[in-house]
Amino acid sequence: MTSNNKDKPPASGNEPLLQVRDLKTYFFTREGTVKAVDGVSFTVRRGEIRGIVGESGCGKSMTAMSILRLVDKPGRIVSGEALFRGEDLLKKSRREMTAMRGQQISMIFQEPKSSLNPVLKISTQLLEVLRVHRDDRSVPVKTEAAVEMLRGVGIPDAARRVDNYPHEMSGGMAQRVMIAMSMAYAPDLLIADEPTTALDVTIQAQVLDLIRKLRDDRDMAVMLITHDMGVVAEMADIVTVMYAGTAVEEAPTIELFEEPLHPYTRGLINSIPVMGQVKDRLEVIPGRVPDLIDLPPGCRFAPRCKARIEHNLTRCEIQEPHLIEAQPGHRVRCWLYESDDTV
Ligand SMILES: Nc1ncnc2c1ncn2[C@@H]1O[C@H](COP(=O)(O)OP(=O)(O)OP(=O)(O)O)[C@@H](O)[C@H]1O
Ligand SMILES: [Mg+2]
Repeated sequence: MTSNNKDKPPASGNEPLLQVRDLKTYFFTREGTVKAVDGVSFTVRRGEIRGIVGESGCGKSMTAMSILRLVDKPGRIVSGEALFRGEDLLKKSRREMTAMRGQQISMIFQEPKSSLNPVLKISTQLLEVLRVHRDDRSVPVKTEAAVEMLRGVGIPDAARRVDNYPHEMSGGMAQRVMIAMSMAYAPDLLIADEPTTALDVTIQAQVLDLIRKLRDDRDMAVMLITHDMGVVAEMADIVTVMYAGTAVEEAPTIELFEEPLHPYTRGLINSIPVMGQVKDRLEVIPGRVPDLIDLPPGCRFAPRCKARIEHNLTRCEIQEPHLIEAQPGHRVRCWLYESDDTV
């Protein structure tokens, strides 16, 4: 594990920018209610990178989509708050929310090319973003401004690249273009949902470096969604581990990796490939995320949990554990850390 943010002052003293409290987003389907996000709380502070990590289907994207109010039917936010600078995004009108998206909060996705218009040159798309955003609309926006945007995200030969169509760009380049577009609005919060999952490893590192640099230069907050513990280790200041729609652990990144408490987190960490070290077999967590319609009673992770068997814990399958502060700033939802009198 490497961490390039060790020499940065801890972001924990910074003011909260986004406070998500007890967020619940359900899908009301014919088969039943899918509890995609089921009581998630976390805070993103100014200048901080908050990692949200978990396997596929844990509710990571739906958490982000809920904050931006992009959940479509049959999905609905059933409760909770998402306070952005103290104002609840979940109570904003559609129009207020549209203004918020892009200007103060930007989002980038896994598939950059699907967010770009395939029939328009990159310059046209970048200039459109600038046009919408500038204060004085009578002043024409020049191509040079688009070239500058590309330079700002480290695209080489930007003056030529700006004339490309999306299909002429690699995935990494397209993601940089997306990042350039979201930066045009100088957002205070960037939500990045698996921004590098579709990219080659070396390109992945470059895009992550770019996101970190933008954070450093602009003191922007980042909510970084990933299923990759390696990305979390590299990037995040603080991490929320999600499992089956809930947060199961939360801690500063260094602490999470040095002393993971939840058996699920330990499983995720053990499944990180270590460079230069040949493991016979990567330890993967057996089983899969439960169906979010038919959640097992008790702890959602219990059916897959080695610790439950090792410690012969019986209540795991009967009652859901609470998210408790096991150590200062380090929360976990697991019966291993809850005393008997809470049962
Ligand atoms: N339109 C829908 N109807 C029913 N269920 C849905 C719908 N969209 C999402 N879900 C469910 O919500 C749950 C959470 O999905 P989400 O996309 O947030 O997962 P994720 O953690 O982002 O996974 P991934 O790593 O694969 O992106 C999943 O169980 C998914 O099946
Ligand atoms: Mg997702």
